[in-house]
Amino acid sequence: MKHRDLLSIRDLQAKEIGHLFERAGEFRKSTPPRAFLSKAVVLLFEKASTRTRVSFEVGIARLGAHPIVLTPESSQLARGEPLKDTARVLSGYCDAIVMRTFAHSRIEEMAHYADVPVINALTDLLHPCQVLADCFTLTRRFGPLAGRKVAWIGDGNNMANSWINACARLGFELAIACPEGFEPDPGILAAAEKDGAEVKVVRDPREAAAGAIAVNTDVWASMGQESEADQRRRAFASYLVDASLMETADKDAVFMHCLPAHRGEEVTVEVLEGQRSIVWEQAENRLYIQEAILEFLLRE
Ligand code: CP
Ligand code: NVA
Repeated sequence: MKHRDLLSIRDLQAKEIGHLFERAGEFRKSTPPRAFLSKAVVLLFEKASTRTRVSFEVGIARLGAHPIVLTPESSQLARGEPLKDTARVLSGYCDAIVMRTFAHSRIEEMAHYADVPVINALTDLLHPCQVLADCFTLTRRFGPLAGRKVAWIGDGNNMANSWINACARLGFELAIACPEGFEPDPGILAAAEKDGAEVKVVRDPREAAAGAIAVNTDVWASMGQESEADQRRRAFASYLVDASLMETADKDAVFMHCLPAHRGEEVTVEVLEGQRSIVWEQAENRLYIQEAILEFLLRE
């Protein structure tokens, strides 16, 4: 049978996401079985990473498999070896490829040429592993998310796009507040709306946060957008998540951020370090959800 890739949350059915949450819950309680002793997984990182790299490397080792971390500089990629050649060579040695890169078309090219599952560890367009971990984190706290409201405040970036995909699969209501010109990907939005997802894009952060069980934000300049940081700081000035914005959300609402965070920019220190913040739990859950993803794809 042809292997499965995980480039987007849309590659999974709701039932499969439920299975991943169940397994991740089990892996929180006890280390997964070392079922993949003869397997190897390559982690190709073309951008910086702390959480994703370490949680995947630890998770792969806990599953009994062998992780190999590659960067462009430590491989032949930086010296010009085409990605399509790298994809076919790596497929001969390893059982899955985890990749973080810039253009989404680059991970699609990897998936096209590789004979093994390719897992998206972040592209400019999507960050599925993070949002799966975040939905798992919310489900543990609030139960099934269908019918609940989640807010996204700030940039319509890779995280926002993945939240839209999660909304289409899990049936919660998603309200995104972003400035004009920083909306999420129109194609992803249109596909979710076609599937009947309840997503709305508004300008006012208070309107998005009203009644939400979770208020999410992220940096205003993502990796690769460093030169736009000043212009973005001006555009996003009224999108700061502070205590008064959190007050407009549900009384039990939590604050979420995929990290790394810029204190005082997109979120105040008070909110990030406060009682409602679940950012450390989100980060920890990356490990368990990715173990569940690896188990699911390596078993196929
Ligand atoms: N949240 C996240 O993906 O963090 P890293 O960039 O550190 O991997
Ligand atoms: N949107 C951020 C997420 C980092 C985990 C970025 O792409 O840099």
